[in-house]
Amino acid sequence: MEHLSFVDLQASSGITDEAITQEFSIQPSFLDEIKRGEKEAPAHLINSLTILADFQPDKKCLDTGSQPTSDTQLDQKMSGQDFLHFLESFDRIGRKTEIFERNGLKYYVNDFWTARQRQSNRIHEISYRACFKAELPSFFIERLTDTGDSVFDPFMGRGTTLVQAAILNRRPVGNDINPLSKMLVEPRLDTPSFSKIIERLNALESDYTLSDEQTSNPDLLTFYHPETLDKIEYLRDYFIDRTATGLIDNVDSWIRMVCINRLTGHSSGFFSVYTLPPNQATSVKRQKKINEKRQQTPDSRDVFAIILKKTKSLLSAYDQNFHSSDYILSTGSANDLATLKDDSVDLIVTSPPFLDIVDYAQDNWLRSWFAGFDIGGVEIAIHKKVEDWVGFVRTCFVEFSRTVKTGGFVAFEVGEVRNKSVLLEECVAEAVQGLPFKLLGVMINDQKFSKTSNSWGVSNNSKGTNTNRIVLLERIDG
Ligand SMILES: C[S@@+](CC[C@H](N)C(=O)[O-])C[C@H]1O[C@@H](n2cnc3c(N)ncnc32)[C@H](O)[C@@H]1O
Repeated sequence: MEHLSFVDLQASSGITDEAITQEFSIQPSFLDEIKRGEKEAPAHLINSLTILADFQPDKKCLDTGSQPTSDTQLDQKMSGQDFLHFLESFDRIGRKTEIFERNGLKYYVNDFWTARQRQSNRIHEISYRACFKAELPSFFIERLTDTGDSVFDPFMGRGTTLVQAAILNRRPVGNDINPLSKMLVEPRLDTPSFSKIIERLNALESDYTLSDEQTSNPDLLTFYHPETLDKIEYLRDYFIDRTATGLIDNVDSWIRMVCINRLTGHSSGFFSVYTLPPNQATSVKRQKKINEKRQQTPDSRDVFAIILKKTKSLLSAYDQNFHSSDYILSTGSANDLATLKDDSVDLIVTSPPFLDIVDYAQDNWLRSWFAGFDIGGVEIAIHKKVEDWVGFVRTCFVEFSRTVKTGGFVAFEVGEVRNKSVLLEECVAEAVQGLPFKLLGVMINDQKFSKTSNSWGVSNNSKGTNTNRIVLLERIDG
């Protein structure tokens, strides 16, 4: 880019005069002088424009949710019956839907959504344990809601449902008991401009000086080089201070989200030495063993460059139209949704914690340290006994019956647990008994062509399938 004149560089960056004067605090007359070559542009402006000029939106990633699929039109909301007929006749990829009944439940099996059909927008790429792919909520949102309808996930995790709802111009509504969740979701609903993020990162980097003091978290040196840890602690203190003083804005929140995502991982794109994937933090003890086994010590990482790189990747197919100022987020239990009004939700797409398979507290200890709260104090649901899980799910559906409009839907993804010896869809059927919900059916999204309906019963214990099980319910009068 060095050979470009300022005018060419500005043109390649796509940044207007107005944006330069506002976001980089440059007087219009000074900008004119720069453009005429009479004055030198400040280094931070050149840096930012160079980065922006290098920033090529990846159009193919815009596919998910931005285009209707061939067999249905976006914004033509289906009734429950129409949706079931649609599942029965689904053959977009040349495979007929297998339909069978078991214990009073009707099952629909097909390759309803796969990464082969679409590619999700990169803004989803924030890792979180047990998250689903964006294709899943997209399938339901496109068919069961209209533009402007409220789409809710009471166990939102990284916010796949909400972000996809925003992309599809629906109103995102979300909740999770883990405070980290809101920190991961909100910046992708209320997204700052790329240039504002660069400007803040530049300011943070120029204010940073290596601390003279020893770290108060020596255990973390198992994961980080001392200089990297010093930068992480600097950023952590900054976010905690901005939160305490009420100065935190959407630019800070964006950078904090990216930091949380980059804390640990298994490549040089993360702040840490090689460790588990970013959605699971291993213990200090276990990390010592990993370091010994791999004969590794943490090397110094360019924290600010890593944040910038991940930001570019997340925003590479971002469109300002996805920005949603009209969203509702809460932190609490899904069976006590005090902030949500009665009859305010058109569709729920969610996946609850499945019995005891994921320990969210253990996975998130390092992320919650960075975010400045104690995850030990959060009552994340872990139910070991099936009857306890059923009881918990029932209390959630009591809340859903209050908040979901009559004629609205719930798509409840239950996953596969305990080698299919427990069929959670049957547990959901039990949990909703007597509540104003009609169970329309169970969808199994199966990405293997060789399956027969027999495979989905308790008798078949085959492992390694890549499936989702979704219980679909309609809110009825009552
Ligand atoms: C399977 S994950 C959801 C992942 C989400 N679908 C996504 O794509 O990221 C389940 C979530 O439930 C949350 N959770 C656990 N107990 C909860 C409760 N009582 N109320 C609300 N959320 C809870 C966990 O923190 C976790 O984020």
